Amino acid sequence: MEQLRDNYILSSGQDGHERLRLLCALHDPFSRRLLLDAGLGPGKTFAEFGCGLGCVSRWAAIRGARATGVDLSHDHVSEASRLACEAGIEQVEFRQGSIHDSDLPQGAFDFAYCRFLLSHLSRPVAAMRTMAACLKPGGGLVCEEPDLKTIYSEPPSSAYEEAVQRILQLADSLALDFRFGTKLALNALSIGLEVQRADAYQRHFLGGKEKGYWTWSFAEARPSLLQTCSSPAELDKCLSDLRKVDLDPKFMVGHARMHQLIARKPS
Ligand SMILES: C[S@@+](CC[C@H](N)C(=O)[O-])C[C@H]1O[C@@H](n2cnc3c(N)ncnc32)[C@H](O)[C@@H]1O
Repeated sequence: MEQLRDNYILSSGQDGHERLRLLCALHDPFSRRLLLDAGLGPGKTFAEFGCGLGCVSRWAAIRGARATGVDLSHDHVSEASRLACEAGIEQVEFRQGSIHDSDLPQGAFDFAYCRFLLSHLSRPVAAMRTMAACLKPGGGLVCEEPDLKTIYSEPPSSAYEEAVQRILQLADSLALDFRFGTKLALNALSIGLEVQRADAYQRHFLGGKEKGYWTWSFAEARPSLLQTCSSPAELDKCLSDLRKVDLDPKFMVGHARMHQLIARKPS
């Protein structure tokens, strides 16, 4: 597992790739619709921060945009580049770097985009300012971030309730905001942007691999989550109970509500 700064609690090595592929399958259709509504199309310049495996940047390039993806993880950047090369997509490049010190030019992009990034950062509003700074006047800031408090099962289960409580407790101890999705729009206003859309969606599953996405994420965050427990066995029981709920077709699992923002830099 690669060691990343800024309290990133998920795996960024090979073990994280498969989970990120599932994340893309779960969210890409919603992200694509959002970006098309924001006006992404041929000839537009598109910067994605915390791009992970680069699914959204590759799609933007296929739509005719000139895309640049930035990620803190060397491993994710090299996998994103490999996938672009394999697919023969030329209008996309990937760079390693933190959103806080990326070398992208200021005032140069039509769109600055991120998904599941700001909630992992201890200075999310500073990161939004950085994204806004790289936009041309009239350019669009497009962000998608979750509210982890909204993860649940129906009927309610102690496993999901405990896991959500632990993950929010961990966020507090790391000075992260795993509910940052709810604050996207107000923060966009606070940094001088015009909010065009503030909306949210939530995915639900009765079965399939998708149902266990958050259990998988909690298991990946196990090394960090251990600090919320008196013993590893306590956490492992919670993870095992989550898996039982995921496998039980009598339970529906609601994923984290995803908040979507389209905001404009004044012209
Ligand atoms: C949960 S993943 C989401 C990946 C991608 N945005 C997606 O939705 O498929 C978060 C990504 O942010 C990256 N990351 C974490 N901290 C970062 C930082 N300070 N600057 C840039 N990227 C960062 C991680 O390496 C990881 O690839």
